[in-house]
Amino acid sequence: MKILLKNKGIPDSQSLEIYSGRGGYAALRKALSLSPEEIISIVEDSGLRGRGGAGFPAGAKWKLLTKYRRKTVYLICNADEGEPGTFKDRYVMEFDPHLLVEGMTIAARATGAHHGFIYIRGEYLRMAKALVKAIEEAQAKGFLGNNIMGSGFSFFMDVFRGAGAYVCGEETALIESLEGKAGRPRLKPPFPAAAGLYGESTVIHNVTTLSFIPFIIENGPEAFRAIGKLGRGGTKLFCISGHVNKPGLYEYPMGTSLKKLIYEAGGGIKEGRRLKAVIPGGLSSPILKEDEIDVDMDFQSLHSVGTMLGSGGIIVLDEDASIPLIAQKTAKFYAHESCGQCAPCREGTNMIKFLIDRIVAGSGAAKDIEQVLRLCRYIKGSTICAFGYAAAMPIETMLRKFRSEFEALLRNI
Ligand SMILES: Cc1cc2nc3c(=O)[nH]c(=O)nc-3n(C[C@H](O)[C@H](O)[C@H](O)COP(=O)(O)O)c2cc1C
Repeated sequence: MKILLKNKGIPDSQSLEIYSGRGGYAALRKALSLSPEEIISIVEDSGLRGRGGAGFPAGAKWKLLTKYRRKTVYLICNADEGEPGTFKDRYVMEFDPHLLVEGMTIAARATGAHHGFIYIRGEYLRMAKALVKAIEEAQAKGFLGNNIMGSGFSFFMDVFRGAGAYVCGEETALIESLEGKAGRPRLKPPFPAAAGLYGESTVIHNVTTLSFIPFIIENGPEAFRAIGKLGRGGTKLFCISGHVNKPGLYEYPMGTSLKKLIYEAGGGIKEGRRLKAVIPGGLSSPILKEDEIDVDMDFQSLHSVGTMLGSGGIIVLDEDASIPLIAQKTAKFYAHESCGQCAPCREGTNMIKFLIDRIVAGSGAAKDIEQVLRLCRYIKGSTICAFGYAAAMPIETMLRKFRSEFEALLRNI
């Protein structure tokens, strides 16, 4: 069952002609005949949960506006896609940009937004160009802009290119960056629904969350719910990378087993080697050992085994992978990307990097392992945004689950 990859491989899939020829914009036409409340209720019934990482129910997010609505509502698409191991949003934006434009326009209709922004990571130049072209095409055909399809509803969109900071994927840092300031997360509350872009009500979603909306409106909430295992809501794009035979982007129902994804979609481990570990939801998710991969890829199931679905970036590591080296790269990434606003994150990530570098260089002591674990504990929950968790959780679990590999590197005294 393909929703987001249904046009994959179709020549010229990014053009309006091909998109509308394959049924595109029919959902928008339908949505324009519904009231905003009806659209919200359909999305709520579908069970759609945000695909940006936290899994917040989309309909519930939109409903928050009934309580917090200000004069203006802005709709933002989070296309920062900075999580290492993740390459799903880029596909939709480059090869099916009208799907996102249509999804955003329906979401705008539901939330009462008249202006939307796609905040796209700076490196995604091709995708940004594809989006600008799609927006121009849609506007020329009356699917976007003033008085869409004669409905009286107007919605305008802009593409804004970021400048390569991982933390700008965090929604309030993204808003700051969009306002032209340094991308540093805001204290919450207030949440964006109450005070977001320019202090106005703001709804922010990942690219793929918004791209599911046309399917839901066209086929009804039951059709979407029926796809995921145990009614867990639709499909998910999984980005499989690392030591597999067939790395790539795959769409499977929510709740598909991790084992199946690795061995069926990913074609199993390269050159017949053994699996050692899997990072299941992008680099910031806690690592799983080989004997922990019999788990369903959905929010609840992964939570129950101490990790998370996150961005759906599955990084597969074979028996030859060195976990201390992976921890070293991870620590370097987070120390570099910390925005520096909160002392526990700014100092903690640099200290962790220093200690792991020392262990990998062969001059660490046993107390360094304890110190890294202590720092991870301190960082979690003591920062303004969830970057602290993202930086601490992978390192902490790599150390806990593969401690002997780190111990083998300690200096002998
Ligand atoms: C450090 C950090 C980086 C993030 N990066 C992204 C990102 O690149 N893309 C994204 O969609 N969400 C990212 N998020 C999550 C967003 O803050 C937010 O939850 C998401 O855009 C909401 O969209 P959703 O409701 O569709 O999931 C990040 C969060 C944190 C803490």
